[in-house]
Amino acid sequence: MPRNLGLNPSVPTIVIAVANQKGGVGKTTTTINVAACLAALGKKVLLLDLDPQANATSGLGVEKSEGISAYRPLLGEGTLKEKIKATVFDRLEIIPSEVDMCGAEIEIARAENHLQRLAGLLKPIVDSRRFDFILIDCPPSLSVLTVNALVAAVDAERRPEPPGRLQPGNLSSALRVFILDCYRHGELPVEAPVGAGLTAPE
Ligand SMILES: Nc1ncnc2c1ncn2[C@@H]1O[C@H](COP(=O)(O)OP(=O)(O)O)[C@@H](O)[C@H]1O
Ligand SMILES: [Mg+2]
Repeated sequence: MPRNLGLNPSVPTIVIAVANQKGGVGKTTTTINVAACLAALGKKVLLLDLDPQANATSGLGVEKSEGISAYRPLLGEGTLKEKIKATVFDRLEIIPSEVDMCGAEIEIARAENHLQRLAGLLKPIVDSRRFDFILIDCPPSLSVLTVNALVAAVDAERRPEPPGRLQPGNLSSALRVFILDCYRHGELPVEAPVGAGLTAPE
């Protein structure tokens, strides 16, 4: 596994939404492996599981139970910060999901600023710079939750940045190289959440 991504340690929190409207294309597997790899490289990482199926939650060994997810904060009850939980990996924390998140789709749609709700909730966490990366695992649809995740990622990217900030283009290139390198060496730290294990592409 490469030990140096060339990332600037003074960079503010980077928010990445992992989204695709199809299911079964590797979103969750990618999210939890990139999160665990970044944590193994010394980065502080928050994985936000927005998929009601909660495969990232179970994939990281966290039990799905009522009241642990972003569901209530998205409806205006409480903060996201209080939902953050440790995982078995150092530096990798999670806001788990639960099946109730299904209801969030319908209930948030009725709320004011319904597409900006997650961005607003994440703002204090992003501004605190507690994490280097926040990775959001999205449901397999272009739903209200997915759009909230995309808006949150764009919103964090739009903040005023100090000189020397790693540009988004460079980041995706660095991450792409990193992920490919992990696959090539067969060194993915977390098993796939469901079904068969990961295999390195030819
Ligand atoms: N690179 C890969 N090679 C082989 N199988 C993979 C790979 N990435 C994911 N999978 C498998 O594909 C299935 C769906 O992956 P998952 O990450 O749950 O997709 P999604 O989150 O997009 O629904 C799982 O069974 C997983 O083991
Ligand atoms: Mg998934």
